[in-house]
Amino acid sequence: MAITHEYRTRSDAVPLRSFKARGRPSAIAGMGVYAPEKIITNFDLEKMMDTSDKWITERTGIHRRHIAEPGTTTFEMATKAARGALDAAGITAADLDMILVGTSSPDGPFPSVACRVQNELGAPGAVAWDTLAACTSFVYGLSIADAYIASERADTVLVIGAEVLSRMLNYGNRGTAVIFGDGAGAAVVRPAPTGGGFKSWCLGSDGRGYAQVTAGNIEKGAYAAKDAAPFIEMVGPDVFKFAVDIFIRQANEVCNTAGIALEDIDLWVPHQANFRIIDAAARRIGLPLDRVAINIDEYGNTSSASIPLALEEAIRKGRVKSGDHVLLAGFGSGLTWGACLMTWV
Ligand code: UT7
Repeated sequence: MAITHEYRTRSDAVPLRSFKARGRPSAIAGMGVYAPEKIITNFDLEKMMDTSDKWITERTGIHRRHIAEPGTTTFEMATKAARGALDAAGITAADLDMILVGTSSPDGPFPSVACRVQNELGAPGAVAWDTLAACTSFVYGLSIADAYIASERADTVLVIGAEVLSRMLNYGNRGTAVIFGDGAGAAVVRPAPTGGGFKSWCLGSDGRGYAQVTAGNIEKGAYAAKDAAPFIEMVGPDVFKFAVDIFIRQANEVCNTAGIALEDIDLWVPHQANFRIIDAAARRIGLPLDRVAINIDEYGNTSSASIPLALEEAIRKGRVKSGDHVLLAGFGSGLTWGACLMTWV
């Protein structure tokens, strides 16, 4: 697909929209993850296309990615992550009021992955639907969970990010094929104990940048056509600049809105798109890398699953303790972005 729309970041950047958490506070009560067993290393890719471990490592920080076997579905991966989150939160599926699945790689246009997860888990009391904001989907999902809990329209929400992006890769395009991987992560969101939980949000979209990252022959309306190639295309260097810029601006916004200094962030969990993006933004935000969750080396870019995969790993490794200020930040196709600041409970 020829990408003709040019998007500039700083000169015409939209003002960011941020808001303080209001109403009944909510917090993450438990997390679970799943990644397929099969791994493709950079050395494997060297045999498949004109690339090298050196280029991929130096330009992206990725060493390997987990890839779903043929026949593995997005909803199966999402369900496995969901079961882990329910266990970690100490609840059962019957407690769920809502299931939100962020995915750009559903098993089909409908039914939603969320309804398949609902069926697998046995959660008849939940309303279930998918949220599509590409790599920002997980943060958008958390924001919906927080809003429903704040307004007391829900008590327990399961938010999932799940992707089988490997099926949308053109292995003839080395600019995208080396970057993406498959995986799933889930979080149970519930009312927060006093003092804890989400404090502020910054969410936004700028459709002027729609052509920066695409999949599915969008200009031809060919998503559902039999011969449509669902391949991911992107203007890598432009997205890179946008990403660094939006990470920095979002971090400032959510901290200012919550009244917390940037230097008081204990852990930043950014969308894992490229180590160099994370490193450049962290330097300019003023955060040392030991306060940043990074696991792109292991998973590559798993879109909506990347933030929960990185946050769950940080929790498992004991990097998050009660009272810590944790910042989640995503960006992705749309263009979209979303960040939230929380006090860990
Ligand atoms: O979450 C979704 C949003 N997407 C992103 O966040 C992606 C953001 N962008 C990026 O991470 C980077 O732009 C990429 C990793 C995609 C590309 O890195 P780059 O440093 O921006 O490289 P480039 O696209 O400017 O390409 C530089 C060179 C080119 O060769 P020439 O024209 O200089 O001879 C490419 O053809 O690197 C070449 N190249 C490769 N070489 C070996 C591109 N991909 C590869 C590859 N192996 N896999």
